[in-house]
Amino acid sequence: MNGNGDLFSKCYRFEDAKRLQAMGLYPYFRPITGSTGNNVVTGGKRQVMIGSNNYLGLTHDPRVMEAAQAAISKYGTGCTGSRFLNGNLDLHEELEARLAKFVGKEAALCFSTGFFVNQGTLGCLIGRSDVIYSDRENHASIVEGTQVALGDTLRFRHNDMEDLERILKNTRQKYEGAMIIADGVFSMSGDILNLPKIIEIAKRYNCKVYVDDAHGLGVLGELGQGTGHHFGVNQDVDLVMGTFSKSFASMGGFIAGTADVVHYIKHRARPFMFSAAMAPSAAATALKCLDIMETEPEHIQNLRKNSEYVSKGLREMGYNTLNSKTPIIPLLIGDDATAFAITQKLCEEGVFTTPVVRPAVPEGCALIRTSYMASHTKDDLDYALEHLAKVGKEFGILGNPEKTEMLNKLAFDHFSVHATTA
Ligand SMILES: Cc1ncc(COP(=O)(O)O)c(C=O)c1O
Repeated sequence: MNGNGDLFSKCYRFEDAKRLQAMGLYPYFRPITGSTGNNVVTGGKRQVMIGSNNYLGLTHDPRVMEAAQAAISKYGTGCTGSRFLNGNLDLHEELEARLAKFVGKEAALCFSTGFFVNQGTLGCLIGRSDVIYSDRENHASIVEGTQVALGDTLRFRHNDMEDLERILKNTRQKYEGAMIIADGVFSMSGDILNLPKIIEIAKRYNCKVYVDDAHGLGVLGELGQGTGHHFGVNQDVDLVMGTFSKSFASMGGFIAGTADVVHYIKHRARPFMFSAAMAPSAAATALKCLDIMETEPEHIQNLRKNSEYVSKGLREMGYNTLNSKTPIIPLLIGDDATAFAITQKLCEEGVFTTPVVRPAVPEGCALIRTSYMASHTKDDLDYALEHLAKVGKEFGILGNPEKTEMLNKLAFDHFSVHATTA
């Protein structure tokens, strides 16, 4: 160290994205110039959207759009301050009361993003002598929360209950309080948390359970109440986190639990206290989506029907989908370059998808993350399937027994998934 370093030198050396841009394969930040939800326009071309978290397809429901517009007319476009001071609307409080009831908890608290929920909740609940046990594939916002929290974080192998128990056995007695935290539905692989087992283990080792249900709400449970309801163990989940940026067709997030714990978070979580409140239109959108979820089960039924249809189609073609049972259906590709090239080709053919590469997945395990909506028509899905079949063959992913065997081995080694047939 000599005091002569240039803080920005890492930026000047950062070439990864520039290299892809130069090759015409950069798949990120594609400007969308129009959208109907199921279809988007990028680069002047219409594409079927199979890369969105709009699971219930409610972003373009006329009733939802009308509710957002009415909120703007009544309250204006923004809250211009924290809930704590000048930004607290009756809409926020109504939404909190309704959400608490929906997810079966005493109270809920809305933040302006889901990211803030995880960061703020872990940041204020985990003291120096406490510990977090966190699944290795948890979302980046949980990772951020564990970094803000004062206590230690110990990571267990993805959805591996033996590993969790082994770590607990060796470490639990060193700490005061403990939290086990995991996504209910994992955002990249689409697999579902083994929540019943987590609860059993948590009881034995005196841990609290925190489920990030960003991708479980609107997807699992009879009306979309999430992973705890799906397994019938919701009463044993201490904290349920949700976001409005997926099935709720909006922006913002919430934490739900007992009244005392939520009250504490409300007065201690910095991202809640020191950031502006959710915009009125966002709160009204989430409320209207909740109305629809509670009264119109046909949306979640369509979502399941569409997901099963595509999942079956993809497996019959020979794709390794990591055995996903949710609307997030990954296609295991292997190397990053092929994943980028396939994404680009699909884009040209009118299908919008997103590649997932390291560090979001292990090195050499690149995926194309596809995800489906209640509102997709059979024509949308058939169009996507036809082109996925075409590019799969073109890039040697399909119809290539050696490649299939290699991908099955990757799925087993890195995602603990056994090869399945359609
Ligand atoms: C599992 C998970 N948790 C939290 C978040 C953050 O939610 P938000 O988009 O509301 O900030 C996301 C969104 O990507 C997510 O996938």
